[in-house]
Amino acid sequence: MPEQMEQQRGLLLLFLGVQLLLVGMFLYQNHRGQGFTSFLRFLIQAKPEEAEGLPFLAQVASAGLPSWDVYSNLSQIHPMDLSDEDLPNCPAISPYINGPLKVMIPENLTMEQVVEKNPLVELGGQYWPPDCWTHHHTAVVVPYYGQARHLQHLLFHLHPFLQRQQLHYGIYVVNQVNSTAFNRGKLRNVGFWEAMQDEDWDCVFFHDVNLLPEDDRNLYICDIFPAHVAVAIDKFNYKLPYRGYLGGVFALRPIHYLRINGFPSTHWVWQKGGDRHHLSGMPLLRPHLLFGRYHMLEEGPDPSQEQSPPSPGLQALIRHKWRPNGTDLLDYRLLSKELQPLYTNLTVDISPSVPG
Ligand SMILES: *[C@@H]1O[C@H](CO)[C@@H](O)[C@H](O)[C@H]1NC(C)=O
Ligand SMILES: *[C@@H]1O[C@H](CO)[C@@H](O)[C@H](O)[C@H]1NC(C)=O
Ligand SMILES: *[C@@H]1O[C@H](CO)[C@@H](O)[C@H](O)[C@H]1NC(C)=O
Ligand SMILES: *[C@@H]1O[C@H](CO)[C@@H](O)[C@H](O)[C@H]1NC(C)=O
Ligand SMILES: *[C@@H]1O[C@H](CO)[C@@H](O)[C@H](O)[C@H]1NC(C)=O
Repeated sequence: MPEQMEQQRGLLLLFLGVQLLLVGMFLYQNHRGQGFTSFLRFLIQAKPEEAEGLPFLAQVASAGLPSWDVYSNLSQIHPMDLSDEDLPNCPAISPYINGPLKVMIPENLTMEQVVEKNPLVELGGQYWPPDCWTHHHTAVVVPYYGQARHLQHLLFHLHPFLQRQQLHYGIYVVNQVNSTAFNRGKLRNVGFWEAMQDEDWDCVFFHDVNLLPEDDRNLYICDIFPAHVAVAIDKFNYKLPYRGYLGGVFALRPIHYLRINGFPSTHWVWQKGGDRHHLSGMPLLRPHLLFGRYHMLEEGPDPSQEQSPPSPGLQALIRHKWRPNGTDLLDYRLLSKELQPLYTNLTVDISPSVPG
């Protein structure tokens, strides 16, 4: 056991090192002059209020840096004629990462067209970079309550977005039935457990269906602490609507998830310690406002009213391998799991007191 922990610590440190290198390199590439300060700000989780005044944020908007189509260059990706073991490691920085991306949803888009645009995505919505070996395994969990257009747009945008980053990823859509009110927290929990049955995901992104990322340097990988990622949404003028805002997109390692005891049904209880947000003693990271930019899709119903008892304690499960011990702990019933071409459709009955 101590050995294992030692090993984990080593891996964690290594990972942190790579992260720092990555972030540093991006910032160096993109804002030479200010690279180091913004790098530091990122590290110390600059308060968004301060970051709002940073000059290069305005630069992006006003100087109009070229932003690319999210599908640009992806047609260059081809499977290699090699076995998995012979694939080279993916580079530290994906060559497809460009920076600002346009959000452009074609008129009258159909799901068939989205499938056609993403030929390398496998049934169930999983993707492995076909030409290199990646160490990043990210599940994207999307609570869903019938916003078909939003889902289609999200899939159209998010698949190429993730492919640009050369990740192994999978998209899980969690559908709720038989319940009076949409319960995002609970759907996230179900999505987490069900996704962990499929793969050893090392990172889970909990993603609202109506948020489309605008910058591919917003890497969908996990850091050593949990992260709140959707920090700059266009609807809120690309800044946090208020300081404690915790909506939209989160990144958690499975170990973080266990430590925070899953998602409560309404929102996280986070504590302010000094200037930072903490979750169960872990600081909450936020990406730079320049990277964590999102377009919010708007029409449609707004399920803002969420309700239900707090999520049951999951701490006891740490020793079990990603399997809740009995449905009573999570109190949901999986009605179906369908592998669609672009996502895994989990349909659950989360009404309380489902018979075992
Ligand atoms: C990627 O696409 C952009 C725009 O379509 C093009 O200008 C650029 O040269 C391409 N990059 C590579 C490496 O092909
Ligand atoms: C989309 O559909 C509408 C109504 O069917 C049609 O008028 C319009 O031309 C279509 N647009 C495109 C780009 O196909
Ligand atoms: C929930 O819905 C499913 C499918 O619509 C149905 O088979 C099941 O009986 C329902 N369960 C309850 C408790 O209403
Ligand atoms: C579930 O937990 C109970 C009590 O903690 C234990 O008795 C039981 O063996 C566990 N079941 C499994 C499948 O681990
Ligand atoms: C998921 O599957 C359920 C059950 O078959 C179906 O009713 C629902 O429409 C599906 N949702 C999506 C988004 O595919």
